[in-house]
Amino acid sequence: MKESSILIVGPASQILGTRIAKELGVPSLNTETKTFPDGEIYLRIDVEDESVIKGKEIILVQSTGPSSSGNQNDRLFELLMMIDSVKRMGAAKIIVVIPYLAYARQDKIFRPGESQFANLILRVLNTTKIDELYVVDVHAPEVLKEFSRKSVNIDSMKAIAEYIKSLGAKDIVVVAPDKGAVERSQEFAKCFGENTPVDFFDKKRDVKTGEITMSGTLSLKNKDVVISDDIIATGGTMATAIKLSKQSGAKKVYATATHALLLQNAKYRILSAGADEIIGTDSIDNEVARVSLAKVIAEHLKKK
Ligand code: R5P
Repeated sequence: MKESSILIVGPASQILGTRIAKELGVPSLNTETKTFPDGEIYLRIDVEDESVIKGKEIILVQSTGPSSSGNQNDRLFELLMMIDSVKRMGAAKIIVVIPYLAYARQDKIFRPGESQFANLILRVLNTTKIDELYVVDVHAPEVLKEFSRKSVNIDSMKAIAEYIKSLGAKDIVVVAPDKGAVERSQEFAKCFGENTPVDFFDKKRDVKTGEITMSGTLSLKNKDVVISDDIIATGGTMATAIKLSKQSGAKKVYATATHALLLQNAKYRILSAGADEIIGTDSIDNEVARVSLAKVIAEHLKKK
């Protein structure tokens, strides 16, 4: 981290961006946005004098999740405008932090005729010639291969585990909602102690309708169960895993995800399925952002 670094807080990361600047001990600048009558968005970096950016190392923090104040398309365009603006003002180095990377789940072709849009997002970022890119628990890290400069996928597991431990959870079993999440859950389980068991349900999603079917009976009698996923979107995956965990005898159930988007009636689905708590991070500014990513992101930025 250079003494002359400045952090720019994006519209979608007002809390997390400010926290990261504080952790790093660098000054921050905010962004101003509006939407024109035709729907086009507008963004400016809140500077009176553009020369403050010239020759500086600039850290841009902008998550790209949907919220009441903007959808992911707006967020991505705001990010591109932030990059363009600091580049035009003469930034010497541009470091981009995207805590939640939108479209990351569209990284595979499930049906003929689809776009592998996650890969294109990375290629677009590549063309902006930013110097470094940091994301957090991106859906499938392989997508970062599309970015030719330095990229880092930051792991939030330790921070989430510390929070769950602070709630007094004991006799923990970590449950992955599907086989694909097992590897990550195994690493997550280690944060609760070397021998913390991990199990998983068998999940299938209809590629046409998006409907989920999940099955399995696990040994969870009187256990505190931590169900861990990278994203909670509609809450369908999490709610089904909670119901099955409860049927398998779970005592408490903690529903955790790095990126708790909580779309539609996700909160209701998850809580009515029997979750004791929904735990997300401040990659998404919402009421379940119990865990801050500021420290772990700042640690990675300091390492450079
Ligand atoms: C899927 O592969 C992801 O890891 C999540 O399980 C999924 O995005 C959750 O979506 P929803 O909350 O809509 O079931």
